[in-house]
Amino acid sequence: MMASAKYLSVFAPATLQQRKENFDSYWIFTQNHGGELFEDDKDLAKKRDRLKHFQDNPVRLRKPLANPDAFYRNYIDMQDDPKSLDRMTMMLTGIYKFARHEWVGIKGAWDVAPDMASAKTLEDKISRVHLAEEFCHVRLFDEMLRTCGLDKVEWVPLGPIKEKIYQQFPRLPNFLIFAPAFVTELMGVTFYLHLYKLINEVLMDEPEVRDRLIELLDEITIDEVAHVGQRRNFIGPIGIKVSKWLVKPFYTMFFKDIPEVGQLLNVEQMIKDGLAFDFNELPVHMIERSWIPSYCKA
Ligand SMILES: [Fe+2]
Ligand SMILES: [Fe+2]
Repeated sequence: MMASAKYLSVFAPATLQQRKENFDSYWIFTQNHGGELFEDDKDLAKKRDRLKHFQDNPVRLRKPLANPDAFYRNYIDMQDDPKSLDRMTMMLTGIYKFARHEWVGIKGAWDVAPDMASAKTLEDKISRVHLAEEFCHVRLFDEMLRTCGLDKVEWVPLGPIKEKIYQQFPRLPNFLIFAPAFVTELMGVTFYLHLYKLINEVLMDEPEVRDRLIELLDEITIDEVAHVGQRRNFIGPIGIKVSKWLVKPFYTMFFKDIPEVGQLLNVEQMIKDGLAFDFNELPVHMIERSWIPSYCKA
């Protein structure tokens, strides 16, 4: 219903002045949202407390995974025919693989980005906190897997070629980084919104674990929604057109690498959802804790 839409497309236009004001507004938001940055630990005070709350109040499956070996055999590289795996195992290996890409990408970026003490611009500071949040996401994903009884998961680098690509990407000139960085965040939110539905289906008979996985995913998605707006805010009128063009090839290429996603989720629909993303589908409890650029508000 157009009449009730509160938000505009994430591809909506913005002036330079609006973008400047929105960086100021995001910076205030992000400091409140994450709390103190612990640079040495790549961590944030409020996120750390939240993770500790989950760890101190663990929830476990009523019926443990029938075949954890199937997870451990396929979580780094798919060894079996994906069609032979149950949906639960595939969902969990898929979650790991998505998070692993994220982890590799941020490791490369963290080493290149100026630390808080040497950050010169507001954008530098925003990016430093952003990366710390991404490291928190990897910990939250790890907790999701532990909740399902998988406590022997290792975070393994990608192959040498992909590691190199992820290492070189943050060293590219800004005009080449901004559009892909924005589309990557958008892809994250799109994937998570589809993942909620999958968790609800796959864990129908495990309400405690289902609810916990959703709570853990909420912590991630709330940040990612803010990242989508923040990364969009780096982009001018040409870059926003380029970003739109990149959605389809990016989503296609990225998910081709994770066979589980093609099995469990509808990549075509994710592409459509990415192109149509406008914040209106998000639940109120997420919007309240997240951040949306002023020029995306109707
Ligand atoms: Fe993330
Ligand atoms: Fe993000």
